[in-house]
Amino acid sequence: MDTQENGTIAVFGGTGQQGGAVVDALLARGARVRALVRTPESDRARALAARGVELSAIRIGDATSTVAALEAVDAFSFMTPEANSLEDVEEEVRVGTALVDAAAAARVPHVVFTSVFGADRETGVPHHDSKHRIEEYLKLSGLRATMVRPTAFMENFATVMAPSLEDGTIVLRLPLPDDIALKMVSIKNIGQVAASILLGTAEVPGGAVEVVGDELTGSQIAAAFGARAGLPARYETLPLSVLGNDLDKAMFREFATASEHPSDLAAVRAIEPATWDLAEWIRSTGWTAPADRVRS
Ligand SMILES: NC(=O)c1ccc[n+]([C@@H]2O[C@H](COP(=O)([O-])OP(=O)(O)OC[C@H]3O[C@@H](n4cnc5c(N)ncnc54)[C@H](OP(=O)(O)O)[C@@H]3O)[C@@H](O)[C@H]2O)c1
Repeated sequence: MDTQENGTIAVFGGTGQQGGAVVDALLARGARVRALVRTPESDRARALAARGVELSAIRIGDATSTVAALEAVDAFSFMTPEANSLEDVEEEVRVGTALVDAAAAARVPHVVFTSVFGADRETGVPHHDSKHRIEEYLKLSGLRATMVRPTAFMENFATVMAPSLEDGTIVLRLPLPDDIALKMVSIKNIGQVAASILLGTAEVPGGAVEVVGDELTGSQIAAAFGARAGLPARYETLPLSVLGNDLDKAMFREFATASEHPSDLAAVRAIEPATWDLAEWIRSTGWTAPADRVRS
């Protein structure tokens, strides 16, 4: 099969961050893309259509729509929506398993599930164990499947985990002890890795890859931002109690366990040689230090 010339790749989540990155990478390689969307008239869906992406309207729970959307595709990429509560976690599993059922009914030749690091086992993190359940369900489906397991998004450092500037020093505070290396990757690289697998240009021994671009402690992360800004930097560990919900507390505890297993950065770069480390990602964003919060 030469998917780049002839085939169609179906993508669920194309209007979101990870699915959007998969679409970007597929289009960059000249692939034909069909996005499974719930609201074809949304601005994001229309923006995909304007770039040549075929839109297929689906409803999770309406198998006719999801199976029809997957007819005659060469491969299918899906992720599952963010979960912030145990109810969301069950909804996440419902979405994931419904998509696997649809792929099986449509006899999709290759399914790529973008889950999360550590989803090969139960970790006690509810929104990771949901992905473990979906991975297991996908394995049992008999479909040819590849698991893409992203680590923390570097993009979090532009939003919820952004460093501040205080009295001329870059300050990063996270609920993570400083002897723990956080595994991280850019969303763009997740999309590129998934696209290579979908297009059959990358081999994934064992059918799964943990997608990681860098592994750094809090002090090292702060230093990377400080180096970019040309300013001193420091890291401060926060207590887990600063986190608003129990799912995130469980996840930050799991970061410590995950760091005990060093990542195979070379395996990821074998698939996508241009995978960014944190310094490269910071540069790519054009990041500059925020306004100084000078203390009186
Ligand atoms: N944040 C991190 O550091 C990190 C790291 C690893 C893994 N993850 C995992 O990444 C996932 C979130 O990925 P993301 O950031 O790419 O999500 P996102 O940007 O919020 O995108 C979600 C996508 O799913 C679609 N969607 C959601 N529910 C749907 C439904 N019922 N029917 C049809 N489409 C639906 C959305 O479509 P609409 O446009 O219609 O809403 C959108 O395209 C979570 O499972 C999270 O656990 C996060």
